[in-house]
Amino acid sequence: MTEPIIELRNVTKRFVGVTAVANLSLALRPGEVFCLLGENGAGKSTLIKLLTGVEAPSEGEILVDGRTVHFRSPRAAREYGIATVYQEVGTLPLMSVARNFVLGAEPTTGRGLFRRFDKEKAATLALQTLRELGISRVADGDQLVGTLSGGERQALAIGRAVHFGARLLVLDEPTAALGVRESATVLRLIEKVRTRGVAVLFITHNAYHAYAAGDRFMVLRRGEMLASFDKGEKSIGEVIELMAGGAELQSLLTAGEAGVVGT
Ligand SMILES: Nc1ncnc2c1ncn2[C@@H]1O[C@H](COP(=O)(O)OP(=O)(O)OP(=O)(O)O)[C@@H](O)[C@H]1O
Ligand SMILES: [Mg+2]
Repeated sequence: MTEPIIELRNVTKRFVGVTAVANLSLALRPGEVFCLLGENGAGKSTLIKLLTGVEAPSEGEILVDGRTVHFRSPRAAREYGIATVYQEVGTLPLMSVARNFVLGAEPTTGRGLFRRFDKEKAATLALQTLRELGISRVADGDQLVGTLSGGERQALAIGRAVHFGARLLVLDEPTAALGVRESATVLRLIEKVRTRGVAVLFITHNAYHAYAAGDRFMVLRRGEMLASFDKGEKSIGEVIELMAGGAELQSLLTAGEAGVVGT
C-alpha cells in the first residue's frame, strides 16, 4: 500500500464541556477518496480543523509523510499541500474568473515600472484548468465569479487548489447547496482530481453522493468512530441506515407516535 500523505493517530479534541473528536485514527493516501459521514455535531468539521491547522489536537499525533507535525496555522498546513474548499468562501463574487484563479500568485508581464498583471496568462491558465476538469461552459476569463453556477464555482476553487500543488483536498459539504446536475459536476470533478493522485477528504450528509465518489468511509457519532469500511463492504441502504442513526431514529419516531396516541 502507498504511504499515507497525512495520518491522525489517536487524536482527541476537547472543548469546554464537550469532546468533539474522541481518539480517532485515520490515514489518507494519494488518489483516494475518503468520505467522512455523520449527523450534525458528530465532529466532522472539528476533524477538518485539526487536519488543516485551524485547531490543535488536545491529545494524539498528526503525521505528514510519516513525520509528526504541529501545524501552527492554516498557512502551515497549506505549505504541506493541504487545501480546503468550503461551500462559498475561497472565491469572491465580484472578481473575474481569471483574477480569482491566480489570487495570491498573479502572473506578471513587463519589467520594473512597467510590470503589470498578465491578464491573458491568468485567463488562459484558469480556462484551461476548468476545461481539464470538464467545465467547458466558462469561456471568458473576465466573467465574474458571482455569475458562475455553484458547480462551476466549486470547480474553480478545486482547480485552483490542485493547480497550486494541493496533495490533500478537503471538501466540506461541497454538494450541500447544489442541484442534481451541479452535484454530478462536483462528483465528476472529485473523480478527475483523484486520478491525478490527489487525496480527497469528502464530507457530506448525502449518502448517495458519498457512495458515488468514495473509496473508504468513516461514520462519526459524538466524536467517536461508529463505523469504518471500504466501498463494496456495505450496501447503500446500510450506509443510509448508519448515517441516519438507523434503529435509534426509528425508536424516536415510534416514541413520538405513542405520545400522540396516549393523549
Ligand atoms: N470552538 C468550539 N468550542 C466549543 N465547542 C465546539 C467548538 N467547535 C465545535 N464544538 C462542538 O463540538 C461538537 C462537534 O462539532 P462539529 O462542528 O465538529 O460537528 P459537525 O459534525 O461538523 O456538524 P455539522 O454536520 O452540523 O456541521 C459539537 O458538539 C460542537 O458544538
Ligand atoms: Mg460541520
